[in-house]
Amino acid sequence: MLRDVGPVYELLLPDVAATQRLGTELAAELAASEVLAIDGELGSGKTTLIRAIVAGLGGDPELVSSPTFTLINRYQARLPIVHLDAYRLRDGSDLAALGFDELLEESVVLIEWASRVRPALSGCVRWDALIEHHPPGRRARLQAPPGKRLQLGQVTGKLP
Ligand SMILES: Nc1ncnc2c1ncn2[C@@H]1O[C@H](COP(=O)(O)OP(=O)(O)OP(=O)(O)O)[C@@H](O)[C@H]1O
Ligand SMILES: [Mg+2]
Repeated sequence: MLRDVGPVYELLLPDVAATQRLGTELAAELAASEVLAIDGELGSGKTTLIRAIVAGLGGDPELVSSPTFTLINRYQARLPIVHLDAYRLRDGSDLAALGFDELLEESVVLIEWASRVRPALSGCVRWDALIEHHPPGRRARLQAPPGKRLQLGQVTGKLP
C-alpha cells in the first residue's frame, strides 16, 4: 500500500548557512510528536541541521552534539526536543527499548542515521530528510508528512 505523503523538496545547500536556513524553516514547521528522520553519510551535515532546528525552537545550539554514545540527547526549547542517533541501533526493537513511544508523546524527535529504524517509524507523523555531498556543498531531499509543507522562499537554491 502506498503511504499517504506530503510534498517532496529537492534542495541545493551550497554552504553551511543554507543547511542552517533549512533548519530554521523546519523549526517553524515541526510540532510535538513529529519525527524528523535524517539520513546522510558521514559528515553530510545531519548534526548541523539539528543544531539549527534547536536554535530555531529557542534552545541552545551549543548543547547539541551527536549522541553517538549516549544514543539520546534532550534539549529544552519551546518544545522539548529529543535527539537520537540510530547508528548503533539494530532495529525498531532497540528503539522501543529506549522508550521511544514515551519520548514521542510531548517532544519533537530528531533522528540521525534514521534508516536503521525507519520501519519502526511508519506510524509516526514523519519528515524524511536525505543529505548528500554535492561539492562544495550538499544537496537534500526532504519529504514532508501529509498536510504539511515548508515555506522555502529564503532557504536554498532548488535543483533543476
Ligand atoms: N551545506 C553545507 N555545505 C558545506 N558544508 C557543510 C554543509 N552543511 C554542513 N557542512 C559541514 O559539514 C561538516 C559535517 O557536519 P555535521 O557534523 O553536521 O555532519 P553529520 O552528518 O552530523 O556527521 P556525522 O555523520 O559524523 O554525525 C561540518 O564541518 C559542517 O560545517
Ligand atoms: Mg552527526
